Amino acid sequence: MKVTIVGAGAVGASCAEYIAIKDFASEVVVLDIKEGLAEGKAMDLMQTASLNGFDTKITGVTNDYSKTADSHIAVITSGIPRKPGMTREELIGINAGIVKTVATNLIEHSPNVILMVVSNPMDTMTYLTHKITDLPKNRIIGMGGALDSARFKYRLAEALEAPISDIDGMVIGGHSDTGMVPLTAHATRNSIKVSEFLSEERLNQVAEDTKVGGATLTKLLGTSAWYAPGAAVSAMVQAIACDQKKMFPCSALLEGEYGLEDICIGVPVLLGKNGIEKIVNIELTEAEKAKMQESAEGVRKTNNLLEV
Ligand code: 2OP
Repeated sequence: MKVTIVGAGAVGASCAEYIAIKDFASEVVVLDIKEGLAEGKAMDLMQTASLNGFDTKITGVTNDYSKTADSHIAVITSGIPRKPGMTREELIGINAGIVKTVATNLIEHSPNVILMVVSNPMDTMTYLTHKITDLPKNRIIGMGGALDSARFKYRLAEALEAPISDIDGMVIGGHSDTGMVPLTAHATRNSIKVSEFLSEERLNQVAEDTKVGGATLTKLLGTSAWYAPGAAVSAMVQAIACDQKKMFPCSALLEGEYGLEDICIGVPVLLGKNGIEKIVNIELTEAEKAKMQESAEGVRKTNNLLEV
């Protein structure tokens, strides 16, 4: 199983690290346009192999897509990250051009690849990837909901003063500060609805803190986060590589599901060897349905800025 990560910045390197540590891939290729950066990070990571106990071979290359040939999965992290005060949507101009070039090059060398899009604004970049390639819809997956759900569980555990392993919950909708739809009515602690333990006001606060999870970190770090994005990517890549049929909210091309069409937005899907094996339809409350529609309008507004 060969995995390519495009972009050797903090997110790309973190993806490579978490994938390697789990030791399910035979090979991880990290590609960057900056001379030597991917090679350096790959070598540094390889020098952790004996310490961390993995056999995954990590190599770095400077813009040489021939080295990515025959990848099963490729993760696109390249593009500029946001700075404090910026929205993900403001990155569209530069990142759209980068994602187009990267996706085209990847497919040229790996025609059967499954693409995972991380670059922001992620839902729009995933939609763009559908527009400019002729890959079937199961082979283009946007990473956002898995990360947002991890942040949701972190905030729920904090509010409940509970260990995170007690918590289950999901965030659907667009991967943006206003577009995320944390499913507070469905979240549980050991199968008991969290609303049994938390007031409506506290739950609303959890939802708001979750939605600005990325922005909060950007303010603290001066750039966007990398550990949780890398961990979310590696969990999704593993689900595909090991054909786990695991459920994650992912940005998927919708054709009527959730009453939406011609849009990529976060919905629960099953990830397995074919990429998106199935879009899972769950019954939303009326309030959640309304939030999902509102979120879709926001994503469409950003999509409309694309020149395709
Ligand atoms: C985040 O939310 C990078 O969009 C990513 O941290």
